[in-house]
Amino acid sequence: MKLSLLELAERKRRGEKLVMVTAYDYPGARLADEAGVDLILVGDSAADNVLGYDSTVPVTVEELLVLVRAVVRGAERALVIADMPFGSFQVSDEGALANAVRFVKEAGADAVKLEGAGPSLSRVQAIVGAGIPVMGHIGLTPQSATMLGGYKAQGRTAAKAQRLHADARALEAAGCFAIVLEAVPAPVAKRISGALMVPTIGIGAGPDCDGQVLVWHDLLGLSDRTPARFVKRYAELGDEIKRALAAYAADVRSGTFPAAEHTYSIPDDELDLFNAHIGKADMGSYGRRRQVGASAQATEEHEQAQEADA
Ligand code: KIV
Repeated sequence: MKLSLLELAERKRRGEKLVMVTAYDYPGARLADEAGVDLILVGDSAADNVLGYDSTVPVTVEELLVLVRAVVRGAERALVIADMPFGSFQVSDEGALANAVRFVKEAGADAVKLEGAGPSLSRVQAIVGAGIPVMGHIGLTPQSATMLGGYKAQGRTAAKAQRLHADARALEAAGCFAIVLEAVPAPVAKRISGALMVPTIGIGAGPDCDGQVLVWHDLLGLSDRTPARFVKRYAELGDEIKRALAAYAADVRSGTFPAAEHTYSIPDDELDLFNAHIGKADMGSYGRRRQVGASAQATEEHEQAQEADA
């Protein structure tokens, strides 16, 4: 059964940590769900991790819809949150609501996430007002990294920390059911978490958030970028995948794969009949082409034979 939003708030009240991870496809979602992850974010980080863009900015609603659908099919219990990409909510409340509706109606997402406070507050109100749960995201918000002076920690002065605190409270008041705090000093994140009824989900925001999120490729060692300070790698699957692919290539080239156990048999009597039939039959044009490919001389002979036939 799906985890409910009520249960998330209850977990915070009981002091039980929430676990969130990003995933971008059906097998990933299934594995996360089976591992007992509570929340799966189909992040706009798909842009760089899955689609090969330079940043999260270019990824479109259409591209993310495909990924969200796949993740929804794989997640039985975990809540699936669709990240609203750059441009899908910045223009107007109506536009934001229309795109949020697409993620829920066309892809089956349980909730959406959007970055920022300020102008994002009325977007949150519009979407929540239509009955769609919204997760907020403040601190380092990659969609506006240029405005923030790059990918760096936020809230490191009293005034900026105060701003984050006020933004978190405003997002809660606007109706967010949870708020991601990204790259925020741990003591600031602790104060913000303590000030809210809804859970905070930290990434680079210290241990006192109500939950944690990591990006799939970072956590599993599938990213080729230098990981951020806040990333902990739990596996080196990139190396493992490369090792497996190289072993496969070597087997194919040496003829070790496929072996007898990887092939299908045919009863002897059927094979005899087949061979007898083929033995009598004309080889056909494909067989002729293969044969003539063997050598230039054979090609010449073949052409001569064709001319003689004609
Ligand atoms: O897109 C993403 O992966 C995110 C997480 C870093 C929270 O927004």
